[in-house]
Parts: sequence; structure tokens; C-alpha cells
Amino acid sequence: MSASILPAVPLGTGGPLVGAQGLGCMGFSEFYGPTAPDEARRTLRIALDLGVTMFDTADLYGDGDNETFLGPFVRAHRDRVFLATKFGIVRRAGEKSWSRVRGDRAYVRQSAEASLKRLGIDQIDLYYAHRRDTSVPIEDTVGAMAELVQEGKVRYLGLSEMTGPELRAAHGVHPIAALQSEWSLFTRDIETSVVPAAAELGVALVAYSPLGRGFLTGSFTGAQGMRAGAQGLSAGAQGLSAGAQGLSAGAQRLSAGDVRLTMPRFTGEHADANAALLEPVRDIAARRDVTPAQVALAWVHQRSRVHGLTVIPIPGTRSPGRLRQNVEAATLTLSDGELTALEPLAAKVAGARYADMTSTATARE
Ligand SMILES: NC(=O)c1ccc[n+]([C@@H]2O[C@H](COP(=O)([O-])OP(=O)(O)OC[C@H]3O[C@@H](n4cnc5c(N)ncnc54)[C@H](OP(=O)(O)O)[C@@H]3O)[C@@H](O)[C@H]2O)c1
Repeated sequence: MSASILPAVPLGTGGPLVGAQGLGCMGFSEFYGPTAPDEARRTLRIALDLGVTMFDTADLYGDGDNETFLGPFVRAHRDRVFLATKFGIVRRAGEKSWSRVRGDRAYVRQSAEASLKRLGIDQIDLYYAHRRDTSVPIEDTVGAMAELVQEGKVRYLGLSEMTGPELRAAHGVHPIAALQSEWSLFTRDIETSVVPAAAELGVALVAYSPLGRGFLTGSFTGAQGMRAGAQGLSAGAQGLSAGAQGLSAGAQRLSAGDVRLTMPRFTGEHADANAALLEPVRDIAARRDVTPAQVALAWVHQRSRVHGLTVIPIPGTRSPGRLRQNVEAATLTLSDGELTALEPLAAKVAGARYADMTSTATARE
């Protein structure tokens, strides 16, 4: 059994203590290439041993399969696992694409009941509205979520991809414990309005895709992420952990069906331009004898001090080696000079986060 190395932080002002880094479980089911259930189960157990307590899923992932997969793990460690799930994105039957977003009362209730059943538990620790249903006032969606808290089906409420004003309006109806949004060296849209609102209200910021969906790890370079690029990893990084050794063995390829093949940042000339931006990340990694992934994660962890709020990155990995590497990054402190060198990156990134940005907070800010 591994010793816990991750510090605990409060989930916002007065909130429960959770590991300072969570684990994104989406990739265990789909979107980012082939999955291996035994390896995923091992990753979950090691995460818990290292001090990770927040496990992030959604009814969207695997169309419910991700929650069903997590159920036995959550039930076996119910006193230590802080389970976060989400509702609101309605999928087209049998497809990866969405049909719409729903935040009406009936849908909130039916979704929570279905998630509880798939997970096999009687209370969700953190329940997020995954996206904003703009046909329903945010106060009504959060009002329906608050009823679930009153009934004991949910402990804390969260919002994902919401704007600063939406967070403020929601918080006026019921305390919001966490706001989940994309935040990384490549994506800093939320720093203008969402982060100041969260800091003022004492809401924790849960940073999704903190590794830029893998791009910041240096594993993908060039068009379609298909060309070799792991040479950029320093020799020093090999000594760090099994995960780092795995990376140095060769670059990853995006397999057919990987959702990133549809994402502007990973395709065509954008991928080439974005790969060139990783130079300062690689330089710092080489000098500090860590991996680019660790530099990227340390930067997100340090947003907490810079912006004065709890920040919990939830990197996703299917591998125990990379999990350990990611957790180790929580205690890596970048110097002011290193932070300055990383500062210009996000403004230079080519391509939008999603091919269709309409349901994101960015589109409504
Ligand atoms: N609220 C939302 O709308 C939303 C949207 C997207 C994601 N999320 C949540 O956020 C979580 C994390 O985001 P994400 O998975 O999109 O992106 P991410 O954490 O930025 O990157 C995940 C990718 O990086 C790779 N990776 C992880 N650690 C690595 C390391 N140390 N070295 C090299 N490669 C590494 C993973 O591959 P391996 O698995 O092979 O390690 C995977 O391909 C998801 O699991 C999900 O729970 C939420």
C-alpha cells in the first residue's frame, strides 16, 4: 500500500476536506482511446492510497457506464471517497454527440435518481449541473438541486461551465461548493469573471482538463497528434516515476474514435502551432528533473495562491504510473521566474477548446 502524499484542502469556505488533486474518471469509459478495466481499478485504488479523495464522473461518460463502473469502488471505500457526478447533457441514443442540455426540475430529479441507482449509493457527495440550460432560469435549476440536498440525496452542489454572473445567481439560491471549468496553461478564459466571483463567494474551483486533454504532457506533437514527440522529455524525467518512463518510450497516437480528433486544438496546423508553444514547459521540466505534465499541473495548483481560492485540478489518467506522477506534482512549486516564462502561452494557443462552443461559459461571457 502506498503512503498518502497529497495534502487535503477545504472544498471552498467551510467545506469538507478533500485531496488537493482529484481524479478525472471520464477516460475509463470512453473519449480518449481504448480502456482497460483492470488497469482502471488499480489506478482508482492507488489514487485513494496516495490521498486522492475526489473522484469525478458524469452520467454522460459512457452513457452511464462510467458511474456503473465506479459503483463497486465507491461502495467499498464509501467513508474515504468523495464522489462527484453531473447531470444535464442529453446524449443522442448510441452516439457520442449530444442532443441538448436540460436543467428543468423533472430532469434534475430523474437524473439524480438514475445516478444514485447506477452508483449503488444513497447519497452523491457533489452534484453538478454539467452545462447551463439557457431555457430555464439558473435559479430554478439550482432550486431543484437544493431539494435533493434537503432530501439527503446530495451533500454539496456544483456547477460546470457557468459564467461569473450565473455562479452569483445560483449561490443566492443555495450555497455552491464548487465550480468546475477548464483551466490549464492553454485555457485561461475563466480568470476574467468566474475566478474572481468564486474567490469572493468562497467557492472552490475544480479545474478540468488541467493537462489540456493531454496536449501539455508533450505526448502529442504535430498535426493530428500523430507524430513522434516524446523526445522532448528530458533524460532527468525518466528517473522520476514509472509514468515518466512510459512517456519517454514514444509518443502517443490518437486512435480512431478519440474525441480529440474533432477538437480544433488537436487538428491540422493548430496542433503544429500549439506543439511549438510547449518549449518553455519542456525547458522547465528538464531543469527541474520532472515531466512536462508535472509542470502543467503544478501551474494549476499554484493558481490557488495567485487567485486566493481553493483550486483542485482533476487530471484524468488510466495509468497508475501517470497517476503517481500527477499526484507528485501537487507538491512541486514553480518559481516566480518559471511562472513568468509560462505566462504568455495561453494567449498564443491556436484553435477553440471545442468544435462547437455554444454550450460553454466562454460563449455567454
Ligand atoms: N465539466 C466538463 O465539462 C468536463 C470536460 C472534460 C473533462 N472533465 C473532467 O475532467 C477530467 C480530466 O480532464 P481530461 O481527461 O479531459 O483532460 P486532462 O486531464 O487534461 O488530460 C487527460 C489526458 O492526459 C493523459 N495523461 C494524464 N496524465 C498524464 C501524464 N502524467 N503524462 C502523460 N499523459 C498523461 C491521459 O492519458 P492516459 O489516460 O493514457 O494517462 C489523457 O489522455 C475528466 O476525466 C473529467 O472527469 C469535465
